[in-house]
Amino acid sequence: MTDNEYVPFLSKITEIIRHTDIEYTFRMTYDGDVKPGQFFEVSIPKYGEAPISVSGIGDGTVDLTIRKVGKVTNEVFEHTMGDHLFLRGPYGNGFDLDDYRGRELVVVAGGTGLSPVRGVVDHFARHPEEVKGMTLITGFKSPADILFFGDLARWKQSMEVILTVDCADDGDKPAACQIGLVTEHLPKVKLGDISRAVAIVVGPPAMMRFSVLGLLELGFAEKNIWISQERKMCCGIGKCGHCKIGDVYVCLDGPVFNYTKGRTLID
Ligand SMILES: Cc1cc2nc3c(=O)[nH]c(=O)nc-3n(C[C@H](O)[C@H](O)[C@H](O)COP(=O)(O)OP(=O)(O)OC[C@H]3O[C@@H](n4cnc5c(N)ncnc54)[C@H](O)[C@@H]3O)c2cc1C
Ligand code: FES
Repeated sequence: MTDNEYVPFLSKITEIIRHTDIEYTFRMTYDGDVKPGQFFEVSIPKYGEAPISVSGIGDGTVDLTIRKVGKVTNEVFEHTMGDHLFLRGPYGNGFDLDDYRGRELVVVAGGTGLSPVRGVVDHFARHPEEVKGMTLITGFKSPADILFFGDLARWKQSMEVILTVDCADDGDKPAACQIGLVTEHLPKVKLGDISRAVAIVVGPPAMMRFSVLGLLELGFAEKNIWISQERKMCCGIGKCGHCKIGDVYVCLDGPVFNYTKGRTLID
């Protein structure tokens, strides 16, 4: 890391985990403080930069789960173990685990939305005594799009996991997987005191909008819901204004927002 937070540093790819044809996790060397839900700007000279969320935190490493969609990410996929990428960050506020400790927690994640919240889920899977109960509802388009399948099996040992796909032939659907949108599975969540329960929602805008509505219908208080927002970003440090919505800098004030603030930011 450099003293200037805008200057990129070189980070080595120590492992590549292939989830789907276009979604890989790159395990990168990194020594320093970082929280789940924060993001790094990943850059390759001549190609540009892309903000990528932290999907895992290890000893001297961070995981970046990247979907190959364009100029920078296509080029990232040309790299292999032992190669280096430029990173700057971590930026943004990330999730504060204290917001969820001692409460019943429901995490609703759609597609790559599972990446930014994976560190939170993994933490409470390892320390289930820190929450009063936990449910993960995670949805993907099809069985071929499922991310972190190995984690899901492990998480099931310490929390309720509802894995769902929008549609699938029974033939290629994993046994533990259900059909339907995540919102259809929300009423199945068993909660003791809903007035104290907390929820995190991360995913595509439509999925987030309907999931939050579903939680509110179940009786969740707005102040007990958190969302994470993806916006077009450039500097990542509150200088360029690319991510600004009203008086909010998503790169600095977010990307994690309590819904009382975040409701003005969901598309
Ligand atoms: C806070 C934050 C966290 C994020 N976390 C992650 C993460 O963990 N993992 C992840 O994979 N992504 C993440 N993203 C999204 C990622 O930053 C973007 O997908 C980024 O644009 C990829 O950069 P790129 O240069 O590869 O793609 P780009 O070249 O910028 O393309 C991005 C999209 O625009 C489309 N596009 C490009 N050019 C054109 C054109 N001329 N006409 C029409 N459409 C076009 C592409 O098809 C693609 O869908 C995050 C974004 C934010 C803001
Ligand atoms: S990305 Fe530049 S101000 Fe937020």
